[in-house]
Amino acid sequence: MRKKIIAGNWKMNIKPSETAALVKAVAEATAAFADKVEIVCCTPAIDVPAAVAAAAGTKVGVGTENCHWEDHGAYTGEISTGMIVDAGANYVITGHSERRQYFGETDETVNKRTRAAIAAGLTVMMCVGETLAEREADLVEEVVGRQLKVGLKDVTPADCAKLVIAYEPVWAIGTGKTATPEQAQDVHAFIRATLAKLFGAETAETVRIQYGGSMKPGNAAELLAKRDIDGGLIGGAALKAADFAGIISAAAAAQ
Ligand code: 13P
Repeated sequence: MRKKIIAGNWKMNIKPSETAALVKAVAEATAAFADKVEIVCCTPAIDVPAAVAAAAGTKVGVGTENCHWEDHGAYTGEISTGMIVDAGANYVITGHSERRQYFGETDETVNKRTRAAIAAGLTVMMCVGETLAEREADLVEEVVGRQLKVGLKDVTPADCAKLVIAYEPVWAIGTGKTATPEQAQDVHAFIRATLAKLFGAETAETVRIQYGGSMKPGNAAELLAKRDIDGGLIGGAALKAADFAGIISAAAAAQ
């Protein structure tokens, strides 16, 4: 059985001085569900030390929103996986659509970041998802299939123990438009079938696939009830401990 994983993606929202209060509020509000659900806060890199300190002694994991593939060097503005590990975080997001859209992220760079994260022992949440134009042109499987095949090039079945896929339809992010549970399940099933082709059916059954895009306490239960929806990657609702906890409570009930 796949343990549900609910991760917050704080994006560029919470300051270092605000971080401890939010992490502590999340830990407190979700303590009752922490044995059933893996709970993560992915924060801006500059918030990580405060988040790690606040999460100490709780079951809340901490991650970053991106990583570079080189160990060190002249890459102004980037952070390495070794730095993330050294700071005490255990998770990282790669390939978020906002990185693809605004920062020139490609399937190839997502692949390099994803492999570096796995090699460093981080659990990586690799994001895939189509735009509205791609959905309307009936290209969902072509786009998501390519993002998976290229993004996971040279990743091995053994590496999949550290791999989570996040399906985030771009048209559902921050728009209040959620994919219906059926729309999401269809793509999640396609993702699992693609993972089965890449890594074998047995391994594919072990990989968790999160849904992301306007997930909230009010719609989480019906999404998380679907066979192949193993968690959520949460933007806006992760910034309020009560809302985030509402989603985590729905995940615990669905487990
Ligand atoms: P929202 O939950 O704000 O739609 O954001 C989803 C997301 O992009 C998480 O990575």
